[in-house]
Amino acid sequence: MNERSSPPPLVEALDARKTYRLGAVEVPVLRGVSLAVRAGEALAIVGASGAGKSTLLNVLGALDAPTGGRVLFDGRDLYALSPAARAEIRATRVGFVFQAFHLLPELDLVENILLPALSRPGAWRRGAALRREALALIERVGLSARVGHRPDELSGGEQQRAALARALVNRPDLILADEPTGNLDSESGERVLDLLFGLVRQGGRTLIIVTHNREVAARCDRTLTLTDGRIG
Ligand SMILES: Nc1ncnc2c1ncn2[C@@H]1O[C@H](COP(=O)(O)OP(=O)(O)OP(=O)(O)O)[C@@H](O)[C@H]1O
Ligand SMILES: [Mg+2]
Repeated sequence: MNERSSPPPLVEALDARKTYRLGAVEVPVLRGVSLAVRAGEALAIVGASGAGKSTLLNVLGALDAPTGGRVLFDGRDLYALSPAARAEIRATRVGFVFQAFHLLPELDLVENILLPALSRPGAWRRGAALRREALALIERVGLSARVGHRPDELSGGEQQRAALARALVNRPDLILADEPTGNLDSESGERVLDLLFGLVRQGGRTLIIVTHNREVAARCDRTLTLTDGRIG
């Protein structure tokens, strides 16, 4: 297959820059990152703490606009789209497993997992089916015994697995996972990784995973290292 007939990348950063401003101080975090991830690929992003890995995931996942450069999603210039169109992509095509789980404390496990699904049109009519899907995901991440618990009644690793189930409930094309096994023992970590890589290898989904773990990176097709705001 020559290059012209290959499909466009699912997500592509073109000289993406991000500078945070804290009062008068400018903190350049991304200093021109270019990368392309094709559909069905698993990409690991590694780098020191503070290197900008979470920032990059947010920029790639339609959560946070870069201060320079562009991000293309399925060939569309993500941050040139209307906020509504961008929110639609984020809600329907992207699943985030956040480093700090961001579970809502007032909601129980099932409700937390259903949250991204409930914002979609027609969700309330599909309530029973969605609940079954949430329960199936809870089973897959090994939390069936915790249904009905609230996040503060879950351990850190259980919260992490709940965050993973929530990221998957809308069956996203692109899964962005920020240290998804950071709080897990090796057995539940393996289980989470098998689930994620199964979605990529059998399900055709695309995965970008931030990890400090070499074995996790080794399961990916490629590893990119973020150093001083650039891909090294
Ligand atoms: N909202 C913000 N405002 C100002 N500075 C920020 C903000 N978010 C992140 N930063 C700074 O940007 C830099 C990169 O942060 P980021 O969270 O992307 O790093 P990281 O590579 O994910 O680190 P870690 O491995 O510790 O999670 C850090 O120096 C951080 O202090
Ligand atoms: Mg981070």
